Amino acid sequence: MFSKNLLSRRNFLVLAGASGAGLLEGCSKSRRPVETTYTAIEILERQHGINRRALAILDTIKNEINAQMDISPEIAGGAVGVIETFMIKCHQLMEEKFVFPAFAGTQKTADLIAVLRKQHDAASKLTGILKPLCVNFSQNDEEKRRETVKMIHLLTRMSQAHESWEDTTLFPLLRVVDPGKSYARLSSEVQAAETNLIGRDGLDETLQKIASYENGLGIGNLASFTPTPEDLS
Ligand SMILES: [Fe+2]
Ligand SMILES: [Fe+2]
Repeated sequence: MFSKNLLSRRNFLVLAGASGAGLLEGCSKSRRPVETTYTAIEILERQHGINRRALAILDTIKNEINAQMDISPEIAGGAVGVIETFMIKCHQLMEEKFVFPAFAGTQKTADLIAVLRKQHDAASKLTGILKPLCVNFSQNDEEKRRETVKMIHLLTRMSQAHESWEDTTLFPLLRVVDPGKSYARLSSEVQAAETNLIGRDGLDETLQKIASYENGLGIGNLASFTPTPEDLS
């Protein structure tokens, strides 16, 4: 059986050319695996994926608030905490240190990067406003309820657009934009920065937290997002 450590991000094992069965067979015969790393774009896009799951949690909470349901401050506060520690203090910092500077002097992307930087600041401010609102949430406080819904809406709307533009318009250029620094070198710097900022197991631990919040809200199964046959009829 694979141990958690064996499957962790840093120790992702590639047995080139092996089928699923061959992979297991290879492990049982102690064939030495080849250790590989992720590229800068893969690392950043996976971080986006984690953020989208945290945003989906907040979106579900927003719907619960609108439906006058009690929400769990632990889950709401926890999801905002993930956005703060993982997205604001790790992902955004990494983009500002490694991604945006790679485009310095590139006029074509200057306007886009100016907007992205402004949105980083906005995300940081929105998260700072949301955190105490979620942690001390009271369904009976009409003003707090409206404010929480509004802040979640502003953060999710902007973040979804922001990440989509980065994924489709900016990140693909990273491979070619800076001939002075190879993409492989950039990738290893990005990977080292992630480890420094959140620790070697930080990504796996963040995913575990998110999964527990999703389970608490009943959205821990991807299938729960599929429209029902009645929805589609
Ligand atoms: Fe960004
Ligand atoms: Fe990003």
